[in-house]
Amino acid sequence: MKIAFYSITGQTKRFIKKTELQAYEISDTDPDYEMGAPYVLVVPAYDDDMMDAVIDFLNYKSNAQNLVGVAGGGNRNFNDLYIHTAKDIARGLNVPVIFDFEFNGTDSDVKNFRKVVEQLESKQSRYRQSNIL
Ligand SMILES: Cc1cc2nc3c(=O)[nH]c(=O)nc-3n(C[C@H](O)[C@H](O)[C@H](O)COP(=O)(O)O)c2cc1C
Repeated sequence: MKIAFYSITGQTKRFIKKTELQAYEISDTDPDYEMGAPYVLVVPAYDDDMMDAVIDFLNYKSNAQNLVGVAGGGNRNFNDLYIHTAKDIARGLNVPVIFDFEFNGTDSDVKNFRKVVEQLESKQSRYRQSNIL
């Protein structure tokens, strides 16, 4: 399963590093990158106007179609707005929120995220097989 992520102050990037999973970092200067295969998006929560690069990335070529789920980073002090960016994107593109974590995630967040990604990966490969048969 491919992973794309966005990070402004570095917390999400640190989380991704701890998972030791390969991931593409969405760039502010050049968000037009095509994932080209099913992937999970990991995004922190900010005001919508700080998410232009993520929106450009999602609008690029097949990126919206290939999105399998969204993981949200955030801060629970934001209460109802906790991980709202991930929730909004997931709702807009009709995919599930597959995980949430605060800041750069705890050790168990790291472990559990890897598990969720593995599960999605095997689901995806079963889906590919059943499409062939
Ligand atoms: C200006 C600002 C607005 C934020 N708004 C939210 C929010 O609405 N909901 C939330 O869960 N976290 C919010 N956060 C917390 C960040 O999403 C959180 O710290 C995240 O880990 C930052 O990720 P990054 O370092 O990869 O950019 C906000 C942080 C800042 C600085």
